[in-house]
Amino acid sequence: MKVNEIAEYLEKKRPETVMGLVGKDGELLAEVIAKNNIKTIVETGICFGFSSAFFLAALPADGTLVSVEPFMKPRKDILVPKEFDAKWLPIQNYSKNVLEAILKTFSPVDMFFHDSDHKYEPMMFEYRLAAKYKVKFVASDDIGAGNAGAVWNDFLKEHNYKEVARGRRCAIAQKI
Ligand SMILES: C[S@@+](CC[C@H](N)C(=O)[O-])C[C@H]1O[C@@H](n2cnc3c(N)ncnc32)[C@H](O)[C@@H]1O
Repeated sequence: MKVNEIAEYLEKKRPETVMGLVGKDGELLAEVIAKNNIKTIVETGICFGFSSAFFLAALPADGTLVSVEPFMKPRKDILVPKEFDAKWLPIQNYSKNVLEAILKTFSPVDMFFHDSDHKYEPMMFEYRLAAKYKVKFVASDDIGAGNAGAVWNDFLKEHNYKEVARGRRCAIAQKI
């Protein structure tokens, strides 16, 4: 499935869940992935798999998505089509336990996407690790929810990343 097909497929499933990356944001991320020849993505927070499905549709055939999720749903409830399984590595764990090892192992990682626990410490922990491993693009969902926007702004102030795009709910920054 291509990005436009996955967007349509996910929107049909949308009534079943209020959570997950919205279509326009998925398309925006897919555009950044295509334009910048992104091949390796690490994300936190799978839930029903909206973001995972978008990333997998946007990645080239030799691309890889590593997704971290402690409360993995049964595979049948995750909306990632089976055809993408060859480039997908879902890992059942908390980001605090595995994210650094993943970023090190898959270095250079082209994009990191935060969509796990939107509290200050977990968000900053993940952003800082992405910066430490010089990930080219750092993106974050639900930037308008609660305190998440303030954490995002603190991250941009503390690190050499510049916001390059903002969708309905997500923001994308590039390493300067
Ligand atoms: C908003 S949902 C993710 C939505 C998903 N990215 C999508 O677009 O469909 C947040 C997910 O983060 C997971 N989560 C919570 N704490 C986490 C952590 N410390 N590390 C990784 N995932 C975590 C939750 O279990 C939940 O499934």
